[in-house]
Amino acid sequence: MAERVYFFDTTLRDGEQSPGCSMYLEEKLKMARQLERLNVDVIEAGFPIASEGDFEAVQAVSVQVRKPTIAALARANRLDIERAWEAVKQARKPRIHTFIATSDIHLQYKLRKTRAEVLAQTIEAVKTARNLCEEVEFSAEDATRSDIDYLAEVLTAAIEQGATIINIPDTVGYAVPMEFGPFVRDVIAKVPNRDKAIFSCHCHNDLGLAVANSLAGLLNGCRQVECTINGIGERAGNASLEEIAMAIRTRKNVLPFNSEINTEEISRSSKLLTNLTGSFVQPNKAIVGRNAFAHEAGIHQDGILKNSLTYEIMTPQSVGLSSTTLVMGKHSGRHALRNKFEELGYELSSEELERAYFFFTKLADQKKEVYEEDLVAIIQDGMKIVPDVYRLKFVLSSGGSQAISSAAVKIEKGTDSCVESAVGDGPIHACYKAIDKVTGMPGRLLDYTVNSVTRGKDALGEVFVHVEFENKNYTGKAASVDIIDASARAYINAVNKAYTEKQRSEAKKADKVAES
Ligand code: KIV
Ligand code: ZN
Repeated sequence: MAERVYFFDTTLRDGEQSPGCSMYLEEKLKMARQLERLNVDVIEAGFPIASEGDFEAVQAVSVQVRKPTIAALARANRLDIERAWEAVKQARKPRIHTFIATSDIHLQYKLRKTRAEVLAQTIEAVKTARNLCEEVEFSAEDATRSDIDYLAEVLTAAIEQGATIINIPDTVGYAVPMEFGPFVRDVIAKVPNRDKAIFSCHCHNDLGLAVANSLAGLLNGCRQVECTINGIGERAGNASLEEIAMAIRTRKNVLPFNSEINTEEISRSSKLLTNLTGSFVQPNKAIVGRNAFAHEAGIHQDGILKNSLTYEIMTPQSVGLSSTTLVMGKHSGRHALRNKFEELGYELSSEELERAYFFFTKLADQKKEVYEEDLVAIIQDGMKIVPDVYRLKFVLSSGGSQAISSAAVKIEKGTDSCVESAVGDGPIHACYKAIDKVTGMPGRLLDYTVNSVTRGKDALGEVFVHVEFENKNYTGKAASVDIIDASARAYINAVNKAYTEKQRSEAKKADKVAES
């Protein structure tokens, strides 16, 4: 009889804290809603004590995303735990996730505590958390490098204090499956009150074994698995949700588990995360890479045409992929466009439809063939994640191999408009200098990528930027058939996020002063 496995998604916590993956409040909310559609059991929405932004994101997700359990992370101390509870208490199903390291390496060098002290702190922390919240998860950080008897003693104490989910993390991605599986089995066996908790695994990918270790964990008694979309996370990342979910779905004979994951939402979840963070997956990444379902070799194509079972162990449809199809021409109307977006999983308001239609007709004039991917780029480019405080009216830019580049921009803010020009080492450099002159908010460009959305010289170009404003990183994104236009609008998208966040925090400060 297949047993139920619970999916604990930590894209918004362990994933988001990794370089290049930070998200703005509305972006986290958008991702959380998609995780709800994917039907994960638990969303770990953040680490509320870490920053005001993390706190607000956990609170917003708790209020707005009602189906899954919402977890908030806290170190094993009162301050962290109370802050986590404050952030998560409005969730329909809240969970406090508290953790402390149990390996001697961490005790000696990081915590400078004895085993007895860490045991006492665990007891105190779980007790505090349980007094606030019905559901408490306890994690023994660096469990795989901990002494197994001591680990079992700590886990037993955590359960005695009321923790009902016990997580065994491979924090540094050190384990290998043939060791991790028996380790999990043996530690669970050493916990006398094990029947009062669900055991969980949380594996990092430093040796590329996070998914394999997670499956070994499941086969040896874990019933919760912690993972992230696209495998993002600290260092080499966390176990990737899509790989675990599809392994379970595809290999039932050796992995006798059921999950509630709606695998048809996998592709959309992966693409949304990429779109929000600008953190791309490699083309050959299992399940969600661009080539994961592409059959290029002649022999393979021949086999697939005869019977897809020859080379296809999963269908592209099972992860929500449809084949690249030519969708419409410039004579297609609003109704057809709305239907197509619905098919692609986007329900548009009338305002969004108007905006999408405007860009669609513009695009259909510029490029002969409009594909589904183009439509997704159009709609995501127009997503109202951040107010359009600054709006680009035009950009003119010159470049080439000989001369210094120059750029001129016209930008509107409210009813004002401003034209500025600058020279630079290339057209993008010149353009960004001109934008900085208008906004008065100089940004430091940390990363810049441009990709074509589909094939062909007339393809839409999608630009992602990571920009630092006043020591904080923001992403920006835009798509256009003209990559200078896309580059300028992507940069302005990041400017708008930085500007809006600054305004919000200043308004908050003013409120606090007024209250006191
Ligand atoms: O990797 C880890 O140990 C963690 C814990 C906080 C669960 O992320
Ligand atoms: Zn982790």
